[in-house]
Amino acid sequence: MKKRAAISVQPSYISLCMGLKNNIQGKRSLLMISSITLGIFLLARCVDKDNHAAQTARPPGFTAFAGSASCTGCHKNAYEKHLHSAHYLTSGIASEKNIKGSFESGRNSFDFSNGTVVAMEKNTDGKYYQVAYVNGVEKKRRRFDIVIGSATKGQSYLSWVNDRLVQLPITYFTANDQWCNSPGYPYQPAFNRPITSRCMECHTTFSQVVSTPDAKGESFDANKMIYGISCEKCHGPAAEHVAFQTKHPEAKEARFIINPAKFNRRQLLDLCALCHGGRLQKTQPSFSFTAGDSLARYFTWDTSGMQTLSGIDVHGNQYGLLKQSKCFTMSNTLTCNTCHDAHANEKGQTVVFSQRCMSCHSTVHEHFSKINHQVVTGIKQDCISCHMPKQTSRSIAVLLEGATTPTAIKMHTHFITVYPEETNHFKKL
Ligand code: HEC
Ligand code: HEC
Ligand code: HEC
Ligand code: HEC
Ligand code: HEC
Ligand code: HEC
Ligand code: HEC
Repeated sequence: MKKRAAISVQPSYISLCMGLKNNIQGKRSLLMISSITLGIFLLARCVDKDNHAAQTARPPGFTAFAGSASCTGCHKNAYEKHLHSAHYLTSGIASEKNIKGSFESGRNSFDFSNGTVVAMEKNTDGKYYQVAYVNGVEKKRRRFDIVIGSATKGQSYLSWVNDRLVQLPITYFTANDQWCNSPGYPYQPAFNRPITSRCMECHTTFSQVVSTPDAKGESFDANKMIYGISCEKCHGPAAEHVAFQTKHPEAKEARFIINPAKFNRRQLLDLCALCHGGRLQKTQPSFSFTAGDSLARYFTWDTSGMQTLSGIDVHGNQYGLLKQSKCFTMSNTLTCNTCHDAHANEKGQTVVFSQRCMSCHSTVHEHFSKINHQVVTGIKQDCISCHMPKQTSRSIAVLLEGATTPTAIKMHTHFITVYPEETNHFKKL
């Protein structure tokens, strides 16, 4: 039992709004980190071979993309489901509709308790701003230009400074419906944190980088951004497909499009691990990876970060956790797509997810005659609470206004195993 508890420590989420992250990491996490590090080290060694073959890759250009709206006519079903997904909603041009935090007086500020206050304000130009005041005197003002995050857990905001992007100091924290400080700057607002193409690679379908690789800081073309993680992130740039199918309405066969339904297991996992794989260190320009490619040609796993669980660029590592699970190691088939519908938003649909467990674990099986399963009425309704329980993140924790201890978010672990504590909780109900 002890061993299991040690493994059940947190994935390497990096702060969404970083509070006192160092204070909340204990000895146990070190143990976990070293075991993950070993795994990743081994993994990094075998991907190394692939890397030798790699040459400098060229990301596709903006004109290779058609945009998801162009898929509507011919793929109405996929499109309509996708509109509600966290992927689709994960970035967009800032507007009254997609900024979730409040601009109402009394709820529209974050007080750093040292004379500095940042207020969220709507200007007479109809745009939204974060404005820093020191002892009541305005010091700095920047516009909300881009929203990052569907607000499942929170949202961060970016602002254009010429052709550069910076992150705004105040972030929105959904669990408490409050503004909080952005990652890494707990005690003073910072208006100049640069946003990299890697951040955009995980939160947009495409962002045109216009700076050269050796430039100090990265620049983007604001007119060549495709917001949301949309069709073409998983199916490849599709302008040619749209042109061809439009010109040949009689054609039943698809051309110039990538279909992940034909992928092997590694290709499927790599597509999701591009963004859900923890700390990847790029070896090629951002946006070079296309669905179907091997991640190892574009990235190595950054093991240095694993020792500290710090950094700002990556959050979840569902891939790393799943890979340690017996469901993964003892089946040859399990991928993210076994449980997740890539197009739909199925958040909170425990029954649906449990049915997917049952595709491999029939309740007729002897496991289900065991005492722990028998205490659960309607066992088929919920495998998740006991075997993929929500756990408190050790690194996504925010320091809310006036608080002295950080508030951590909770996420479902993807290390699927037996968690005795969760089961005991269930039994008491
Ligand atoms: C003018 C109609 C048309 C448009 C627009 C269109 N498609 Fe298709 N697409 C088709 C046809 C026809 C097929 C082949 C039949 C099928 O699988 O539905 C297809 C197939 C596909 C497939 C499956 C490929 C395969 O190998 O079976 C994917 C994925 C796809 N399209 C994605 C997209 C995306 C993404 C867009 C928007 C960027 C898009 N399509 C726009 C007509 C269209
Ligand atoms: C380009 C980066 C990227 C790729 C590729 C990607 N994801 Fe995501 N995914 C994200 C981001 C970012 C979020 C968080 C979106 C948000 O809430 O703002 C997310 C959220 C999710 C969620 C949570 C949805 C919810 O309701 O909260 C699931 C499940 C998920 N992704 C599964 C997958 C699977 C499966 C794949 C592979 C087929 C995949 N993702 C590929 C970036 C990506
Ligand atoms: C390696 C890919 C990756 C990078 C780089 C990355 N993110 Fe994320 N981000 C994710 C994923 C995946 C999620 C979904 C939550 C999770 O699994 O932890 C997410 C979640 C978020 C959320 C919460 C969204 C929600 O709806 O709750 C915010 C806000 C966010 N990221 C902001 C950023 C910002 C700002 C940057 C750049 C400074 C960034 N992220 C860089 C992958 C990434
Ligand atoms: C997060 C990745 C992701 C996104 C975003 C995404 N798809 Fe898919 N799509 C997949 C995967 C994976 C499959 C393979 C079948 C499956 O697992 O559902 C697929 C299958 C399909 C198919 C059917 C192919 C077949 O043979 O069954 C079509 C058509 C399609 N997608 C169109 C779209 C369109 C249109 C959009 C945008 C509105 C879109 N997809 C967005 C990942 C994605
Ligand atoms: C692709 C098939 C597959 C799917 C889907 C699947 N599993 Fe498994 N799972 C396995 C295999 C194979 C094993 C190892 C052999 C065994 O214990 O039956 C396993 C083992 C387990 C174990 C024992 C783990 C341990 O550390 O002892 C649990 C608990 C479990 N699965 C729960 C689940 C739950 C809950 C789901 C759904 C969220 C799920 N599984 C989905 C194939 C799968
Ligand atoms: C055995 C089934 C299973 C597999 C395989 C699986 N997931 Fe999940 N995933 C779940 C369940 C169940 C949830 C919780 C859904 C809910 O209740 O909203 C979840 C939640 C998530 C979330 C949201 C986390 C949170 O708690 O907010 C993300 C992101 C995600 N999965 C990504 C992935 C990725 C990426 C992969 C592949 C590396 C993957 N999942 C593989 C079952 C699975
Ligand atoms: C009340 C919590 C609880 C729920 C709900 C639950 N399980 Fe379990 N499960 C356990 C416990 C505890 C064990 C360890 C064996 C025991 O003591 O009964 C276990 C064992 C298992 C095992 C075998 C692990 C081993 O020891 O080899 C599998 C597979 C499994 N569960 C799958 C599922 C699936 C699939 C569901 C949903 C249909 C489910 N469980 C629902 C608590 C739960």
